[in-house]
Amino acid sequence: MTLTHVAPGTRLDGGVTQDRQARAPYAEAIERNAGEGWTRLGVPGHQDQPLHHPSLASLAGPELLAVDIPMFTEGVDLPAPGETTSPLLEALDLAAEAWGARRTWFLTDGASQGNHVTCLALRSLSPHAVVQRSVHTSVIDGAILAGLRLEFVQPSVDSALGIAHGVTAAAVDQQLTAHPGAAAAYIISPSYFGACADIEAIARVAHQHGVPLVVDEAWGSHFGFHPELPKSALQSGADLVISSTHKLGGSLTQSAMLHLGDGIFADQLEPLIVRAMTTFGTTSPSGILYASLDLARRDLYLNGIPGIGASIADVERLREVLNAEGRYADPDPSIHAAPDVIALDPLRFVVDTRSGGVPGYVARRLLEERSRIHVEMATGTCIVGLVGAGSRLDVDYVAAALHALPQQDLEGYPPIHLPPNAPRRMDLRDAYLSPNEIVPAAKAVGRISADSLAAYPPGVANVLPGEAITQEILDFLHDTAASPYGWVRGSVDPAVDHLRVIA
Ligand SMILES: Cc1ncc(COP(=O)(O)O)c(C=O)c1O
Repeated sequence: MTLTHVAPGTRLDGGVTQDRQARAPYAEAIERNAGEGWTRLGVPGHQDQPLHHPSLASLAGPELLAVDIPMFTEGVDLPAPGETTSPLLEALDLAAEAWGARRTWFLTDGASQGNHVTCLALRSLSPHAVVQRSVHTSVIDGAILAGLRLEFVQPSVDSALGIAHGVTAAAVDQQLTAHPGAAAAYIISPSYFGACADIEAIARVAHQHGVPLVVDEAWGSHFGFHPELPKSALQSGADLVISSTHKLGGSLTQSAMLHLGDGIFADQLEPLIVRAMTTFGTTSPSGILYASLDLARRDLYLNGIPGIGASIADVERLREVLNAEGRYADPDPSIHAAPDVIALDPLRFVVDTRSGGVPGYVARRLLEERSRIHVEMATGTCIVGLVGAGSRLDVDYVAAALHALPQQDLEGYPPIHLPPNAPRRMDLRDAYLSPNEIVPAAKAVGRISADSLAAYPPGVANVLPGEAITQEILDFLHDTAASPYGWVRGSVDPAVDHLRVIA
């Protein structure tokens, strides 16, 4: 790995910034260690011997093995002899400073780990929490593991596009009033479609009820690093923020962060998070993933203005070109009209391909086959693309590929509607742990699910352990499983021919 060294004190927009943020102490320490000629007699077992591990070395060059250094190395993760701090601690401090957190943790199992950790920490505060129903499935898994009861706030649903957005402050208020003594209010913003909730208002409501606000900001790790981006959850008053830095923030897949806000709940939450991190964290965190977080933080901070500005301009131009051509209806006004949406992530674009005569799934397949364009996701009605912070978009190429998609008769492709949630019959964890049996799908209707089943993407659970299985939900899961790109996470078999139900 060769680091591009940035002169201390310079921002790439020509301004001056703190020297501190121009450093990447962890990545620099790994690079230094990799060049020190160590004879490695511990793990990882490849021991930086590319000659004897040619397959691994051919994957990304011998440098890959050199920077995959042993964990808990002195002078990298741990303080060097005689030192009181380490490059890892410095990198964590810099990340906290960049995002405006009291404290930041690096995660090597994605934002999913952040949600697991958070659920366990919250369980020490109260047996229940008020949670957005369309949370990512990792929140459900965390709640099962922790034994945290979830009282749901329903998000608004855009039935035209078949997508769920966020929640309003009024809806959160209502549920916190109905369920006093909750550990927290727990929401997602932005949504998979880039729709941002009014976190400031929701934080005010949570704080009036005397509870912290947790925001799963998996899709918004870049927020706050450019004036045209929405404010970050921490800037808006959230107390704990789960951030999938690898999504748009520029770090390597699987790397993520958990940020503790510096508010009134920080003293209470901090020791709980420290403890829960031990429970869910690997004992062998990857230095490569940590280094990528350190570099992503530096790049967002230093390159933020010009780099992200160019990414935003590209997406904006794509929207303009598509709107000028007029084939595809612009879904942004209808997303913006939802009562819970106050902003859209300008690095995302939703194309309502169905309005232009192509179901979303088909558009996705054709874009791959004809143009080698890979989009983030497709539904029956639309495709969702994104441009990572600092990445660029070949607007003309993508617009031309979209325009060239053949129009087709949509008779055989009725839009897939999100099914309404089924009634809850049992507690989530009790249902997960109860004796169960696997039955053919047709016999599962009316039974209580033992599994969490989520159409992926976006990974929002359509049925939870303890909820009744309805025909509508089953049809939706079958449609998802049969579509070329969808799959049902948690299903007993890929086609959802069988379901696990309470015996
Ligand atoms: C809202 C939300 N939270 C958490 C996650 C999990 O993120 P990761 O894949 O980094 O574990 C996702 C993944 O798509 C997500 O959409």
